[in-house]
Amino acid sequence: MNNSKVHFYYKNVTAEVIGTEHGITAEQIDELAQKTTPLIEKLNEHRKAGKTRYRDLPYNEQYPKQVCEIAGQVTKECENFVVLGIGGSALGNIALQTALNPYLYNLDPAQRKGPRLFVFDNVDAMQLTSFLSWIGDKLDKTIFNVVSKSGRTAETAAQFLIIRQMLLEKLGPTGYKKQIIATTDPKEGTMRKIASEAGFRTLEVPDGVGGRFSVLSPVGLLSAALCGIDIESLLAGARDMDQRVSRTDFFANPAALNAAINWHYYNRGKRISVMFPYAWRLKDLSDWYRQLWAESLGKSKNIKGQDVFIGPTPVNALGTTDQHSQVQLYREGPNDKLFTFLQVRDFDNDIVIGAAPESTPELNYLAGKHMSRLLNSEKTGTEYALLHDKRPCLTVFFDQVNAFTIGQFIYLFETTTSLAGLLFEINAYDQPAVELGKEATFALMGQPGYEELAEKIKPVQQIDGGYLV
Ligand code: PA5
Repeated sequence: MNNSKVHFYYKNVTAEVIGTEHGITAEQIDELAQKTTPLIEKLNEHRKAGKTRYRDLPYNEQYPKQVCEIAGQVTKECENFVVLGIGGSALGNIALQTALNPYLYNLDPAQRKGPRLFVFDNVDAMQLTSFLSWIGDKLDKTIFNVVSKSGRTAETAAQFLIIRQMLLEKLGPTGYKKQIIATTDPKEGTMRKIASEAGFRTLEVPDGVGGRFSVLSPVGLLSAALCGIDIESLLAGARDMDQRVSRTDFFANPAALNAAINWHYYNRGKRISVMFPYAWRLKDLSDWYRQLWAESLGKSKNIKGQDVFIGPTPVNALGTTDQHSQVQLYREGPNDKLFTFLQVRDFDNDIVIGAAPESTPELNYLAGKHMSRLLNSEKTGTEYALLHDKRPCLTVFFDQVNAFTIGQFIYLFETTTSLAGLLFEINAYDQPAVELGKEATFALMGQPGYEELAEKIKPVQQIDGGYLV
């Protein structure tokens, strides 16, 4: 059993540290506790009523079994594993890989336990042609995992159709079907239809679980398991966090504190939420969080149907890189941000910094020190500087970065998002505003049924030369 944990630290948002103009007083935190405690109970009720099915994913025994079975089948025949997906169908896969596998995983066979992993979550002919020309003679050793609940998402569908044609031309219908695994809706939708007709191996995007809450389902688990990530530990970490985020004691519940503090600051005009990991390997988790937070909380209507146009803007930065890019603004620009640092206490790899040349004794202070000490000193230094300017800072500490703590982190932020949805009184599980852009693309690409919309788009499509400089 792994004992490493993630911990949520909130002292540096208090008035004690940054004063009453920007900090939270003891009375205000008590008010937040009173406001949030019934919502924790409500969320626990929602869960019992089956309204938050993502909460039960870490307890599902079927999915890891199915995933490991498929991973076991393909592992010998697979040197390259390619995920085709976008949004919630890709960001979790990328985050797990960056956090839990070595930096040179794809380049160095000695550093990897599974196939090379590629995730295509965009439409870019230059990127794809470069990849296809490399993969062209390795197709029989390459498995493509098309991840799409609907199968209609234009980006994923286009990538799939390109790959399909290439596989059919090079390997014929029998070879083609062997190289594709579809992760899709259990019963319906375009990709389910294609998969059934072609005879692909399939996994489920679980019913009632939105893409951005699906990383602990087959959506994220297959690429992780195949690439040597301990998915049992990942799920155990999520279960561990479940114990903590289900507590009705506000002060013992990290998701409740996190959601309440974020909500509080939004209402005080700090509407930008910066996630600032100080560990390169955590950087894609903040990308995953960015989607979770933005799609879940950015809403025009509240649950009563009233106009609210609400939602904190998630921004991601990376320590220390963005100290040299963003911190000038963060310290001296508008005090409209809440910072959430991610800090690692115990790095599994460390390096001692070498000696300085005799001619440059000014570098001697670095010599003989561990790189992790430098990184964490830079985090504390940046936090100190932000606090000096009365900027509120939270920190999520990782005792270590491993599958168990990453599972905890994912579950912590998913539940935080649900609680924030209740505080903002919005539906955190839909994304109606994404639809119009998707439909406009269908119209522009000539999809039958979208002719009327295509007409409406024409003024935007036509560039007015009078304004072109
Ligand atoms: O979180 C979401 O629901 C979205 O980001 C979807 O995952 C994304 O739009 C892809 O949809 P689909 O899985 O249907 O291709």
